[in-house]
Amino acid sequence: MTARMIDGKALSAQVRDDVAVRVQALKKHGVTPGLAVVLVGEDPASQVYVRNKAAACDKAGMLSREIRLAEDTPEEELLDLIEALNQDPAIHGILVQLPLPGHIDAGLVIETISATKDVDGFHISNAGLLMTGRPLFRPCTPYGIMKMLESEQVALRGAEAVIVGASNIVGKPMAMLLLAAGATVTLCNSKTRDLGAQTRRADVLVVATGKPGIVTGDMVKPGAVVIDVGINRLPSGKLTGDVEFDGAAQVASAITPVPGGVGPMTIAMLLVNTLEAAERTLNT
Ligand code: GUN
Repeated sequence: MTARMIDGKALSAQVRDDVAVRVQALKKHGVTPGLAVVLVGEDPASQVYVRNKAAACDKAGMLSREIRLAEDTPEEELLDLIEALNQDPAIHGILVQLPLPGHIDAGLVIETISATKDVDGFHISNAGLLMTGRPLFRPCTPYGIMKMLESEQVALRGAEAVIVGASNIVGKPMAMLLLAAGATVTLCNSKTRDLGAQTRRADVLVVATGKPGIVTGDMVKPGAVVIDVGINRLPSGKLTGDVEFDGAAQVASAITPVPGGVGPMTIAMLLVNTLEAAERTLNT
């Protein structure tokens, strides 16, 4: 079997077009959705992500405010900035790019963002709402993956879903969303004893570890849908995922490429979350 490629680039363009239409409708009510993106330090990958997020925002007709702070910015100064953005009526979404420098408590930073502007969905209130089945903001990467599975008409009710990687950003919220969709969910972590035994049971396999090639073709169930969240830069400069693509594509029924799979969807869902944050201000 040779897997169908799940085109995240094309689907994200569709989502962004829908967002742009809704942005124009909202503007007629005098509201322009606004996103503040905060980057602390000079991490090259983070710089690219932040630039792409702000550019996507502008392209959809939203307001973007990119705020870059020096690596040695005191924690207090970042918290003061967030407090000011919380109060700013032109800003509906606040995103602080992770990872943060070591002297800053990322947890404290995230809890300082108003839960109603937390478009990443990382705030403890949003994590709790998601866990109890009343999501306000869904974290963008798992939300984008759910959109991809929906667009591919993947049956989730009763399906075996296996997630490799239990981060707060991807693995844990992914588990909640798949569970809410009726899947039987297994969440693997770095201590999982026989990873292949778990992954080989998966009708839907989501891999988000940051370890290139951790999942090989022999670890994929024939006919599975494989979602590769990894974005790893090899010494050659080439981008690669966490899944050994060629081997997995021989076995799976559908698979996401890297790049051009999950990545573009993450940005598209950030726009959705920001738009919805702005729409909510009309109803309150
Ligand atoms: N770093 C890696 N992924 C993300 C993300 O989705 N949001 C933020 N804020 N930082 C990240």
